[in-house]
Amino acid sequence: PVLPIMDLKPFIREIPDFPKPGILFRDITTLLQNPAGLRATIELFEEKCSHLNPDYIVGMESRGFIFGAPLAYRMNIGFVPVRKPGKLPAAVHSVEYELEYGTDTLEMHQDAVQPGSRILIVDDLIATGGTAGATAKLVQQIGCELVGCAFLIELKELQGRDRLPQVPIVTLVEY
Ligand code: PRP
Ligand code: HPA
Repeated sequence: PVLPIMDLKPFIREIPDFPKPGILFRDITTLLQNPAGLRATIELFEEKCSHLNPDYIVGMESRGFIFGAPLAYRMNIGFVPVRKPGKLPAAVHSVEYELEYGTDTLEMHQDAVQPGSRILIVDDLIATGGTAGATAKLVQQIGCELVGCAFLIELKELQGRDRLPQVPIVTLVEY
């Protein structure tokens, strides 16, 4: 029998000086294009997140969509997109959050989930935790229960998890 893939690091490419000099960019496109890499990623997420028993996965534009939707499909639950402003057509809840310079906003449809629903946040990567922290606020503001956050990649030195509420955090690869 073929052993399941446990180490996803070999599938992730490192690009120096992108998008700015001095940044080592972790590129997931090499993982996505590889059938074994993509399958192993979704299956590992499922293995580590199923016990949280979410009603919905909330995924953030745009790379959160890539992992959130197939994971929701596998778990037989719904997927809800959190988008950058002005993209969602119906009434939205919004949250503003701090960037290095200035602020940004994330939006989610008001009628996407019922208050009290159990929510799992999924994204490709946590860096400063600004994006996931803002999404967690959005989820909690609308009266949902955040049951966990799952990321393919955690950039540990940025301590992004300190900006998240006290819920289980699942990560598949750490740098
Ligand atoms: C990246 C990444 C996360 C976020 C992590 O998305 O996909 O969503 O940054 O950074 P943080 O923890 O410091 O908030 P980006 O904003 O580049 O958007 P994209 O997915 O559309 O490329
Ligand atoms: N890779 C991908 N997205 C990112 C990174 C990275 O290294 N840092 C912040 N967002």
